[in-house]
Amino acid sequence: MTFEQRLAQNATAVDGWLDIRLSDAEVSAPHLWRAMRYASLGAGKRLRPFLLIETATMFGVAHVAALPAAGALECIHCYSLVHDDLPAMDDDDLRRGKPTVHKAYDEATAILAGDALLTLAFEILSAEEVHEDTAIRLELVQALAKACGADGMAGGQMLDLAAETIPASLDDIRLIQSLKTGCLIKHACHAGAILGRASDEQTACLLAYAEKLGLAFQIADDLLDHESSPDAIGKATQKDANAGKATFVSLLGADEARTLAQLQVEQAIDALSDFGAEADMLRAAAEFAIMREK
Ligand code: IPE
Ligand code: IPE
Ligand code: MG
Ligand code: MG
Ligand code: MG
Repeated sequence: MTFEQRLAQNATAVDGWLDIRLSDAEVSAPHLWRAMRYASLGAGKRLRPFLLIETATMFGVAHVAALPAAGALECIHCYSLVHDDLPAMDDDDLRRGKPTVHKAYDEATAILAGDALLTLAFEILSAEEVHEDTAIRLELVQALAKACGADGMAGGQMLDLAAETIPASLDDIRLIQSLKTGCLIKHACHAGAILGRASDEQTACLLAYAEKLGLAFQIADDLLDHESSPDAIGKATQKDANAGKATFVSLLGADEARTLAQLQVEQAIDALSDFGAEADMLRAAAEFAIMREK
């Protein structure tokens, strides 16, 4: 199966899983659940769930057994997008080719839908279907909490907003990107390794891979913002320049940023040198991070 086929297959499985988990049949606030579904179902690439599932698969975990942990991570990612798009943050009207949650609903609903997706992720992760061993579940919960908290994604988002007004160096940008985007991507591989009971050495290789991949992925996001169009990527473009946001592209220029992203991809693939063909999907994912058109 090619990488594209596997990505699509996993995305369908994750969508199906989220569709059931976010069913609003018997809930107290159906309006909120509808907003959560709106935020989560649809055109996302589902790269983070892909990385989680494929990492776990390397250690013999069945795809279906990794789905709940993958679904939890996607809930966090979708929450981060809903809040990222709010007027107080990036103030975006378009996401995944449709109006952002605060546009389709309202700001209060968007804030609460994000809050509820964030907490739902931890409810999912603590449930027995994630893994029979409570120690594994606890490890997953702690890892995810760290990845999305003040020293992870949320902290990166804070620094990212500051980079619109305070001058940022290349090292500052590297830190911001590694927190705001890198931490969740890293968590995907970390969670796969936890589920697969990978050794410390194997986990270290996977985290090194994910760190490089995360950086390449965000540089590609910044390049798409700079060079692509809303029709192609389903979200507004030229946003970073208009906000005066410091990024690798604004500091290095597009060509040098592209070269840096390519270097990260090569280093990501190098970090997998201890693995054989079982890591081919991760190698392909590294290439995809910068070749993607959306
Ligand atoms: C967008 O993430 C936000 C970033 C961290 C760059 P994705 O590009 O993975 O967005 P979706 O999930 O495919 O919409
Ligand atoms: C968003 O980065 C990162 C997170 C949501 C954590 P961006 O602000 O660059 O993402 P887009 O371009 O809006 O998708
Ligand atoms: Mg942002
Ligand atoms: Mg944004
Ligand atoms: Mg962006």
